[in-house]
Amino acid sequence: MDLSTTYMGLKLKNPIIVGASPLTASFESIKRLEEAGAAAIVLHSIFEEQINHETHELDYFLFKGSEDYAEALGYFPEVTLSNIESESYLDEITKLKENISIPVIASLNGVSKGGWINYAKKLQAAGVDAIELNITYIPTDIDVDAREVEMLYIDALKAVKENVSIPVSVKMNAVFSAPAQMAKKLVEAGAEGLVLFDRPVHVDIDLENLNSLQVINPSNSNDLSETLRWSAILYKKLDVSLCASTGVKTHEDILKAIMSGADAVQMVGALLEHGPEYIEIVLHHLLAWMQEKEYVSIQQMKGSISLHHTSNPAAYQRANYMRILTDYRY
Ligand SMILES: Cc1cc2nc3c(=O)[nH]c(=O)nc-3n(C[C@H](O)[C@H](O)[C@H](O)COP(=O)(O)O)c2cc1C
Repeated sequence: MDLSTTYMGLKLKNPIIVGASPLTASFESIKRLEEAGAAAIVLHSIFEEQINHETHELDYFLFKGSEDYAEALGYFPEVTLSNIESESYLDEITKLKENISIPVIASLNGVSKGGWINYAKKLQAAGVDAIELNITYIPTDIDVDAREVEMLYIDALKAVKENVSIPVSVKMNAVFSAPAQMAKKLVEAGAEGLVLFDRPVHVDIDLENLNSLQVINPSNSNDLSETLRWSAILYKKLDVSLCASTGVKTHEDILKAIMSGADAVQMVGALLEHGPEYIEIVLHHLLAWMQEKEYVSIQQMKGSISLHHTSNPAAYQRANYMRILTDYRY
């Protein structure tokens, strides 16, 4: 049984990548993940705020359009992190690369076109196998149009690509008005991989203290839906690796992701809940399922139920949506 797959040119022994999270923030935890069978890891993010001493450009993007710019700045946590932190991220990578054999993907998390992008060069020099770019931008300014927002992503990606020769992926946001075209633009700008999708931090309101909150809201398998839809739509349309992320909890979720067209998956929440050793269990069930259904490889299943191959393309399109709503009986 061949569980191997290729993601952005990286050979993976199976499709399970551990996503950026506290799981990939310590050497001991990463060692456990490798021992349990993880095929690759994405390190916890290094943030623009940790890299940049000069935050003017970041502030500009975050608060552009805010009527209370000075007040808004007051809410932004003071940038106390220094280059020392970003240097220790590099030391961590060097140590990891000497001690583990699975690919290490760094996660670069930022939004402006500032100097943080040059840090990509340092990541490559430290030995990472690839970079995952997470550009989380909330366009609060009603005068900023979609094209301007898209250009922010494209420009940041292009700037990173100019600094490195290793593969770069973008952890995409699911809320673009034309996700397929955005994906195409990112590929044209040099992305070798697209991670579908990032999971935004949830907003809530604290009714006791009457203020707004940002909270981590754990995903479940239902949250895989948008990932399945868009990987099925993008499969074979673009020359890019696809990685399913958000809601991958079980071997069944992995099978669905691969069949929709993903080359690999990222898991976080399930491993935070059950521990790194859960990977072993998932791989065991994955193999058992494939044996029972007489599949011989992951490659054989890839994209088999994508828009390109499915006998029921309507499942991914509007026609089916209308039928499901109108056929519903209570
Ligand atoms: C506690 C926690 C910390 C995270 N930190 C990061 C991070 O530093 N960078 C990043 O890109 N994503 C981060 N994520 C998001 C995960 O990488 C992943 O995209 C998300 O949890 C959805 O995957 P899941 O459904 O398998 O949990 C974090 C998630 C959690 C729960």
